[in-house]
Amino acid sequence: MCGIVGYVGYRDCSDVLVSALTKLEYRGYDSAGIAVFEDNKISVAKSKGKLKDLVEKMAAEGKPQGHAGIGHTRWATHGEPSDINSHPHSGAKVTLVHNGIIENYKELKDFLVKQGREFLSDTDTEVVAQLLDYYYANIKEPIKAIIETTQELRGSFALGIVFEDYPERVYAVRRESPLIVGVGEKENFIASDVPAIIKYTKNYYLIEHDEIAVLSHEGVEVFDAHYQPVTKELKTADWDVDAVGKCGYPHYMIKEINEQPNAVKQTVAPRIKDGMPCLEECSITPEKLRTIRNIYIVACGTAMHAGMVGKYVIEDIARTAVTVDIASEFRYRNPIIGEGDLIIIISQSGETADSLAAMRLAKEKGATTLAIVNAMGSTIAREADMLIYTHAGPEISVASTKAYMVQLSVMYLFAFELAYAKGKFDEEKLRYYTSKLESMPEMIEKVIAQTTEISQKISTKLMTADSLLYIGRGLDYALSMEGSLKLKEISYIHSESYAAGELKHGTISLITSEMPVIAVATQSALYEKTVSNIKEVKARGAKVIMICKENCEVSKDIADYVLKIPCYEEILLPMLVCVPLQLIAYYTSVQRGNDVDQPRNLAKSVTVE
Ligand code: M6R
Repeated sequence: MCGIVGYVGYRDCSDVLVSALTKLEYRGYDSAGIAVFEDNKISVAKSKGKLKDLVEKMAAEGKPQGHAGIGHTRWATHGEPSDINSHPHSGAKVTLVHNGIIENYKELKDFLVKQGREFLSDTDTEVVAQLLDYYYANIKEPIKAIIETTQELRGSFALGIVFEDYPERVYAVRRESPLIVGVGEKENFIASDVPAIIKYTKNYYLIEHDEIAVLSHEGVEVFDAHYQPVTKELKTADWDVDAVGKCGYPHYMIKEINEQPNAVKQTVAPRIKDGMPCLEECSITPEKLRTIRNIYIVACGTAMHAGMVGKYVIEDIARTAVTVDIASEFRYRNPIIGEGDLIIIISQSGETADSLAAMRLAKEKGATTLAIVNAMGSTIAREADMLIYTHAGPEISVASTKAYMVQLSVMYLFAFELAYAKGKFDEEKLRYYTSKLESMPEMIEKVIAQTTEISQKISTKLMTADSLLYIGRGLDYALSMEGSLKLKEISYIHSESYAAGELKHGTISLITSEMPVIAVATQSALYEKTVSNIKEVKARGAKVIMICKENCEVSKDIADYVLKIPCYEEILLPMLVCVPLQLIAYYTSVQRGNDVDQPRNLAKSVTVE
């Protein structure tokens, strides 16, 4: 949602904070700000707009000079994006940055107003700054004041704090929102996520709920909510600077599309032993799988679309009922779940508020939870009963591509293992499908090479459209959902995905020559039926772009443009077809001159409801 950073060390603090924030801008990018100790006084610079606007402002007006401070990049929740609402926010002696939402900020604000406190902004964060300042004014000790303050707060927060009376020190505390402390040589950091600090150090501590970290030139200390020292385990990130840079690509999105073969290899290879899936290190055993009654897949956005593919595959081969739920619906619909049910939560960030709440609800109701998560150490990863990490590396572009791809690969591993455990696959069949999945990285690479140019051409036809439809049946329908979301979120062209057979029950009345239709038809059993649906839209003037297997003969009266993908095991084709769908969205957005990696109104990690 927002990104916070902090630094104490020997480098130019403003430069470090800005550099770290560039790696967190994916979390929010409508304003940014920093606060740095300059001659023992706190000097603040902040600005509406992207980080580059702050950098330009500091270039014109002078940047704070010092070696300790905090920084923030914002996705507005309370109050519009503006200079005033930008973080940091201050009380008399306290300045802080915040990621999260304070649910009881109104009552706290009323209390503080009664104490004579005045507010400048509309934010919940300024309330925290004033409350902390209020306690600090009485207690005069930073950690005790932080403890008093956080006891009053309801909601989620990761705070980076500086106290004017304690120069060259950065304090940090969190509840629900993520926070790490980076540990370097004579320099230490705080950040919402590891990519922010990887340029400086790979070593970090994960800060737990209500723990307080204190960074100084001497080192890092961590305390619990009772002011007792805590010994932390030092973790090491296993990826390098390239993983968080563009490496010559114009955008993170296209870099991440190209990283997909490797991401799948990293995710799948360690889970295959002797030619068969092995998820034992994730606590998933055939015995456990045999006890599952119903499966629910709960997630948001792209992750939910990976779950849709999972549903089709699991039901088809493992003959186990799967319900896919949008997390924000699941948590409020009083789901009928309990012991014996498996709730699979899929999340790239592992911090999505609705997915986390859904998982907690499932646990409360006695169901078993399995998380499929990309971000190491994230809250969903830590709280799930069972966990499969995807190994896509950091995904920076807001539009998810490689995370979706690896989520699909895990869906397959899981489905194969389940089919075998339930006796629906014999060993031969299991080995066959596993080997096909193992070869996917080369196939994905081939498809990227084969479909880039044609996707680019197709996007020149789409870039002027006002609206378009994606249609398909079965697995192709599940894929269409993701294709449509990808296009709309970064190109700002309205699009919808539709089950091809459902069109004539209403939606076909939208079809004109102005509404292009992308038809996905890769599944032999449904091919003829989808072609009939394509003919129906074609007869009503639609321009049709058809995605099918390379052995399909497609005449001009069916499709205007045909994009062919290699013939392969059909059940695995979603992992190939999603590539041109991602590329079409990418090039359409590029051609429309949009900010591909940071589309308007969005943030990568949605940690609020
Ligand atoms: O981090 P998560 O996977 O839980 O995020 C879920 C969605 O917010 C996310 O997939 C979103 O839909 C993507 N930005 C779409 O590209």
